[in-house]
Amino acid sequence: MDLNTAQFRGRHVFVAGGSSGINFGIAQAFARAGARLSLISRSADKLASAVAQLETLGAEAIGLPADVRQPEALTAAYTQAVARFGAIDVLVSGAAGNFLAQALDMSPNAFKTVVDIDLLGSFNVVRLAHAHLRQPGACVIQISASQAFTPTPYQAHVCAAKAGVDMLTRVLALEWGAQGIRINSIVPGPIADTEGLRRLAPGDAALQAMAERVPLKRLGRIEDIARMAMLLASDWGSYITGTVIPVDGGLSLTGPRDFTAAAEASQRGRG
Ligand code: COA
Ligand code: NAP
Repeated sequence: MDLNTAQFRGRHVFVAGGSSGINFGIAQAFARAGARLSLISRSADKLASAVAQLETLGAEAIGLPADVRQPEALTAAYTQAVARFGAIDVLVSGAAGNFLAQALDMSPNAFKTVVDIDLLGSFNVVRLAHAHLRQPGACVIQISASQAFTPTPYQAHVCAAKAGVDMLTRVLALEWGAQGIRINSIVPGPIADTEGLRRLAPGDAALQAMAERVPLKRLGRIEDIARMAMLLASDWGSYITGTVIPVDGGLSLTGPRDFTAAAEASQRGRG
């Protein structure tokens, strides 16, 4: 029995941070199933290109420039998106930023910047969406990272922020469950051809070492994450809420990674 993707036809899927990478891959998967897509991110150019690609799949889509750190911009985006496509059926909150640096090499603003985007930004995205979510029935998906539960050198900001994201998932599952809103976190492993992995494993040798470390001995594919997002949003996921689900080939079982060489390479690039 296959997942019935016809159930997403005409549904409104709103993707924060949806102009590239994993989040855009999720948008593409829902677009192929006939959903209508609203995307937000900072760059109007990236959004225009993403929307054009979704339209080539036959989907209706809009791109609304908004920084998740700016509640007013988010509120305006929700108002426009809902006016066009109606109440939101699926909300994906995946905007994030990352760089490699030890805590002592981070200014207070460097730490704050990632916490502002990943954690406070996620709060803004899900909190401000609430009035626009279909009740009952909406599904919220937060895109987390294994740094949420694996203490990882060079990632103090991401560890702190994503741990907060997953706790937000659990709290909102309790607060919003009675309204028929489900919320879960997906924890992607190292996903090939993404900006996030380029920053943590620059170059072929680093990518190969990362793949070797994964118990299933391969990097993840964007499609691996998109499929989990669809499962959670589908009727098959209708009794799942408040969970944090690794889709990572088992990598989160293996403990902290050593980013020293990658960090030195990225600091040389920065200087
Ligand atoms: N090491 C140490 N500090 C760094 C750094 C690094 N490699 N890169 C940025 N910072 C610091 C900056 O110096 C600045 O601190 P300061 O004001 O004390 O100097 C602070 O972080 C903010 O940098 P800024 O470039 O102004 O932030 P921004 O809001 O324009 O961009 C980032 C946010 C830094 C996260 C940027 O990399 C980004 O936009 N990333 C999005 C894409 C991405 O990361 N994708 C992967 C997702 S997992
Ligand atoms: P990506 O392509 O850089 O995706 C990040 C998206 O967020 C982009 O669309 C970016 O677009 C947007 N964004 C960044 N800052 C924003 C802000 N302040 N406001 C609004 N939008 C913002 O990277 P990715 O690797 O696919 O990562 C996607 C998600 O997966 C992230 O949550 C990341 O933590 C998670 N993840 C990734 C991996 C991996 O292997 N790649 C592993 C674990 C977890 P703009 O630049 O236009 O704003």
